[in-house]
Amino acid sequence: MYILAFESSCDETACAVLEMDEGKRILKSNIIASQVDIHALYGGVVPEIASRAHIEAISKITYEALEKAGVTLSQIGAIAVTNGPGLIGALLVAVNFAKSLAFANNIPLVPVDHIKGHVAANYLTHTELEPPFLSLVVSGGHTSFFNVKSYTEFEEIASTRDDAAGECFDKIGRVMGLPYPGGAAMDKLATQGDKNAIPFPSPAISKDTLDFSFSGLKTAVVNYINTKNQKGEQLPRADIAASCTHSIVEAIKSKVKLALEETGYDKIVLAGGVSANSHIRAGIEGVCRRKKATFYAPDLCLCGDNAAMIGAQGYYEYLNGKTADESLNAYPS
Ligand code: KG4
Ligand code: ZN
Repeated sequence: MYILAFESSCDETACAVLEMDEGKRILKSNIIASQVDIHALYGGVVPEIASRAHIEAISKITYEALEKAGVTLSQIGAIAVTNGPGLIGALLVAVNFAKSLAFANNIPLVPVDHIKGHVAANYLTHTELEPPFLSLVVSGGHTSFFNVKSYTEFEEIASTRDDAAGECFDKIGRVMGLPYPGGAAMDKLATQGDKNAIPFPSPAISKDTLDFSFSGLKTAVVNYINTKNQKGEQLPRADIAASCTHSIVEAIKSKVKLALEETGYDKIVLAGGVSANSHIRAGIEGVCRRKKATFYAPDLCLCGDNAAMIGAQGYYEYLNGKTADESLNAYPS
């Protein structure tokens, strides 16, 4: 069946067409209208501007996605849409658009959780992947371990107690004057620095929990930068990026090891925007090699927010009977 999917939870307006059936996971088109350039002017996402930009983009990208896929609306078997979590004004744009399209054309409407969508990006990259498995979602808003019991049944087993990993990368990137959002720039810069140059605190709070805490690390790095600036000293940017990344990677490695041991899984699925980070991928790969576990991560083009992942998850939600009526609403958290 063909799925038409929408995503507008933050600063990307996205539409995708997928062909999904038993043993078939084909991404026919995947269009993303990014607002990064607009929000870069403000150093962060401005919610009202995001909502307005979604409204401007959503019709155009829908035509584009259908045309690129070579599929007409009459061939669509289900419409999937992110209805949370995210910025409420932003979410409502795709929810309303998808709702109108679905009910005007008599097509089933499937609400999709954004976080489950990130995990489902892996189904498109690894067409053999099936639950159950352990998943680590690292994004701008979340850092959590999930026990993915089935395609639709997720149990959160640990999370960050404060900031998300992406938030930490972005804040440090901003203070160092790196291009917005800072995560990707921090990734590149970290490869040029000495990871042992500066001993920053670890986000792995204690040995006996899978939870993280990124706020201490974020504050320590920002204080280090401010002190250097106040003294008029040159910032060792690459060393800061490398040392901070090292601290995050070591924390993630130790928690992944513990999570594999505690859950008994031999498969771990990484997901979310921060899953594009080359150092984090290499770190988890190393743990999996030693633990004889299989490591999955999405293609780089499916790590950030997109509608392909919403379509993939939407297909399994649809099979599970989760459809919505005209009362479908969005939820921010
Ligand atoms: O999943 P996502 O696109 O949006 C949310 O649902 O939050 O994640 C965005 C986050 C941003 O914080 C961004 O800086 C980060 O993902 N990110 C990265 C990299 N690419 C994107 N963080 C670290 N390394 C990267 N290569
Ligand atoms: Zn996301």
